[in-house]
Amino acid sequence: MKKMTLRFFLLLWSLSTLSCDYGLMHETPAIKPHEEPWLITKDPGVPFSGGEALYKASTPEELVSSVALTDPDNITRGKKYYGIYCVHCHGENHDGRGTVGQSFSPLPGDLRSPGVQSSPAGVLFKEISYGIPGKRQPPLAATIDATRRWEIIAFVKSLGPRK
Ligand code: HEC
Repeated sequence: MKKMTLRFFLLLWSLSTLSCDYGLMHETPAIKPHEEPWLITKDPGVPFSGGEALYKASTPEELVSSVALTDPDNITRGKKYYGIYCVHCHGENHDGRGTVGQSFSPLPGDLRSPGVQSSPAGVLFKEISYGIPGKRQPPLAATIDATRRWEIIAFVKSLGPRK
């Protein structure tokens, strides 16, 4: 009896597949790896210019911001992204007193310190993107889009040194 029920459901299932408008696995052609020669694309698939690799290979002096750092709109956007990517460590007052930051040793720096404020944008970009050698700043290149990183720098710079 059980077998009968199973067969009945199998029949129902195969009938239902007749109305499928997509190919079923056993009907569609199977491509096995290396069955065909590799396709050689005209342009190389991996970019050799531009992009993160170029940023990474450049010295801080060579880096030029892709956004105007004093533009109010960019600063506003940077403020928003600071609130997403930095605030939990560097704090609402940009002084390194964010909740998460308190578990770090040394503590996150004050972003309004004379040191940070006088750092060229390219230096800050490198630090935020790839971390600071021997220090605890996390490398965020894979987390934050490059344009957003520049906007965050525009915002940090707009704060000016703490008085
Ligand atoms: C997970 C926590 C964390 C996050 C997120 C984080 N930072 Fe930091 N940051 C640190 C810590 C910790 C240090 C201190 C590094 C040290 O001295 O070892 C630091 C240092 C820095 C410094 C160098 C400060 C100095 O005094 O030289 C800058 C600039 C900086 N962070 C900017 C940023 C910006 C901008 C963001 C957001 C894009 C960010 N950080 C996100 C933890 C964080």
